[in-house]
Amino acid sequence: MNKSPHVAVVGATGAVGIEMIETLEKRHFPVGKLTLLASARSVGKKLPYQGTTVAVQELTKDSYQGIDIALFSAGGGISKEFAPIAAQAGCVVVDNSSAFRMDNSVPLVVPEINAADVKWHKGIIANPNCTTAITLMALYPLHAAFGCRRIFASSYQAVSGTGAKAIEELKKQVDQIVHGQAVTKEVYPHQIAFNVLPHIDSFLANGYTKEEMKMENEGRKIMHHPAFRASVTCVRVPVYRAHSVAVSAEFDTPVTVEAARAVLQKAPGLDVVDEPENKKYPMPLFTSGKYNCEVGRLRKDCALDNGLCFWVSGDQLLKGAALNAVQIAEELMKL
Ligand SMILES: NC(=O)c1ccc[n+]([C@@H]2O[C@H](COP(=O)([O-])OP(=O)(O)OC[C@H]3O[C@@H](n4cnc5c(N)ncnc54)[C@H](OP(=O)(O)O)[C@@H]3O)[C@@H](O)[C@H]2O)c1
Repeated sequence: MNKSPHVAVVGATGAVGIEMIETLEKRHFPVGKLTLLASARSVGKKLPYQGTTVAVQELTKDSYQGIDIALFSAGGGISKEFAPIAAQAGCVVVDNSSAFRMDNSVPLVVPEINAADVKWHKGIIANPNCTTAITLMALYPLHAAFGCRRIFASSYQAVSGTGAKAIEELKKQVDQIVHGQAVTKEVYPHQIAFNVLPHIDSFLANGYTKEEMKMENEGRKIMHHPAFRASVTCVRVPVYRAHSVAVSAEFDTPVTVEAARAVLQKAPGLDVVDEPENKKYPMPLFTSGKYNCEVGRLRKDCALDNGLCFWVSGDQLLKGAALNAVQIAEELMKL
């Protein structure tokens, strides 16, 4: 890899794209040149980078000449169409969409867990689902120590997980309600302000949603644990930023709270915030903007043998998307 790579951000104007640009800058990624790509709607828009601005260009099939690394976050359709073209042009794609995650020829990577998988890429590396990544930041170290058989979990997912339009929808609905106006909706099937929606992504024949099954499918691939099982209910909540997940995990061996805490305190990218007696536990308001995820509410599960309950919260725009993608690019620089 070029020591000062030419980096492109595809979907640069989106909720994730903006964070990618900021994360590249904050982590001093050795960007030689930065190209920002989005739809024709955004051509001419200027986005801040390193004290100056970079103009957004339209994404086309010819956008990849000379680009070394492309961070994609413009949706699955764009990734399916353009990521193979970019890879063909010699660029390494780090893709945020679900388009290639379960493709056997594409590594799916959370660097704290399976950084070595970056080595076998063939031009495309997938970034995991945001809720899965945040959950695994706490679950994987416990799995490595005690052997996780299965989890039961419920997610509390922020609206920014749906993108820039959903952030605007929550703001608008709150404003409409405060001013006694009728609530309008475009992004979600129901009002999200002052409500919770037990519906993220489309429903499958088994009654779960696609989002819910990502935990088991992607979790197996990232942890190299084909027997891992996950029963998940994904819920959208009226929170702007950072996802939280309540997890009950069952292990091969008995787990004490003390032993779990000792493992989690050593885990990379994770902070233990677990003093319920002092009202200290992870909350999305405070994990927003943070690189590390937070875990707390550790307790023995009273309904599972060898079970542990925990609550994990993390900024899904960062660890669930932009930060993880830049960390993958950092791994690429080590090859
Ligand atoms: N939001 C999250 O927390 C999160 C987490 C993990 C993964 N992801 C994934 O990341 C991707 C982007 O999510 P987001 O939340 O950032 O969405 P978003 O805010 O809606 O942004 C979408 C981006 O894609 C661009 N785009 C749309 N149509 C395009 C086209 N035809 N050609 C080129 N660019 C186009 C948009 O450009 P314009 O502004 O020009 O329309 C914008 O930059 C999705 O695949 C999503 O599943 C999101």
